[in-house]
Amino acid sequence: MKNIAVKTGGCTDWNDCGTLNGKTVLLGVTGSIAAYKIASLASMLVKSHANVHVIMTKNATNFIHPITFESLTGNKCLVDTFDRNFEFQVEHVSIAKQADLALVAPASANVIGKMAHGIADDMLTTTLLACRAPVLVSPAMNTNMYENQIVQDNLKTLKSYGVRVIEPATGYLACGDTGAGKMPDPEVLFSHIEAEIACEKDFAGKRLLVSAGATQEALDPVRYLTNHSTGKMGYAIAKAAMLRGAQVTLVSGQTNLMPPLFVETVPVVSAQDMFEAVSRRFTETDILIMAAAVADYRPREFAEQKIKKKEGEPSLALARTVDILGTLAPGKRPEQFVCGFSMETEQLIENSAAKLKKKNLDLIVANNLRTKGAGFGTDTNVVTLIDGAGVRELPVMSKLAVAHRVLDEIISHIS
Ligand code: CTP
Repeated sequence: MKNIAVKTGGCTDWNDCGTLNGKTVLLGVTGSIAAYKIASLASMLVKSHANVHVIMTKNATNFIHPITFESLTGNKCLVDTFDRNFEFQVEHVSIAKQADLALVAPASANVIGKMAHGIADDMLTTTLLACRAPVLVSPAMNTNMYENQIVQDNLKTLKSYGVRVIEPATGYLACGDTGAGKMPDPEVLFSHIEAEIACEKDFAGKRLLVSAGATQEALDPVRYLTNHSTGKMGYAIAKAAMLRGAQVTLVSGQTNLMPPLFVETVPVVSAQDMFEAVSRRFTETDILIMAAAVADYRPREFAEQKIKKKEGEPSLALARTVDILGTLAPGKRPEQFVCGFSMETEQLIENSAAKLKKKNLDLIVANNLRTKGAGFGTDTNVVTLIDGAGVRELPVMSKLAVAHRVLDEIISHIS
């Protein structure tokens, strides 16, 4: 099995390291009230093990002090063109060379204008001009300024030079207006950075369909049958595949999880809804991973009105739901890869191997609900991978680590 460590720049274990381990991120902060939010972004990046350098324009220092960034990142925060580090390298060239990505956020109209026209009159603009890494810009300004044709033309120019512009959010702005021009939340900016540099894009060009969470089978307008699945495993797979460059669609039962950014999420309720959503997309899919806990039975009748209490012991008639994998996988094209999950409480290997064969799967990821560290709602899992080549038991791992190991397995099969 391929080791993810080789691909991600020195990280030996997804359990122990952040997604940005070994990466250097340059944050350019300009004069806008949103500048204070970049402190949380810097903190998130550091927690993901990125090496973070912050360069501020002079105007930005009116909104947040450089010491805040120095404390959070452990690196000197640069403002003036003549700042040098202790090795007396020219700072702007040194940081520009180290950076795996530069993000200018918040980006004022002034800095956007300078960047679009190659003006380099301070530390930030000089560094950006010397930077060959991907550059992202997050405009933040008053709506009228943002919509001004000059700013729009400058953004167009930046895009034509390969700079990625993060669309501003719409909402209440510090100036009291409501409209476009709001810097997205730090979590959103973080996701943009992660999507750009977190992993090698070994799934680029692959269309991956993943299901997650529990289905709900309605009994009446008030009640339903379901199971304990929280969707964490399927969501981790969707995110990991997106970070590795796949075009991901996530068909999700009810969960409390935030849909991952840059993933098309299709919410569904019942097993029948999930079947329809998955089968509609199956032919266009290179890889299907069914991580959802699909109900095998539904109430035979749906009562239009709430079922009222009655004397005696009522019984509930059940009907089988469609087996999604069992229906779709036998008809898959040779180049399509289908992976199932299997949760058992006994005879894990035998039962799971039988499902692999019966449903015509390429891989099944089996876990035993009774194993410590596995099961519903936990952040870890303990899985055994079973395919035509045999059985591989994995140790307890974070669900994100399991997701990457499953994807490693799939990419080694299909490439
Ligand atoms: N699955 C499916 N459609 C169903 C039930 C399950 O596609 N109606 C998928 C699951 O998403 C999983 C795999 O089949 O990838 C195995 O699911 P599991 O619940 O472990 O097994 P079942 O096939 O339902 O068999 P059993 O409940 O008897 O263990």
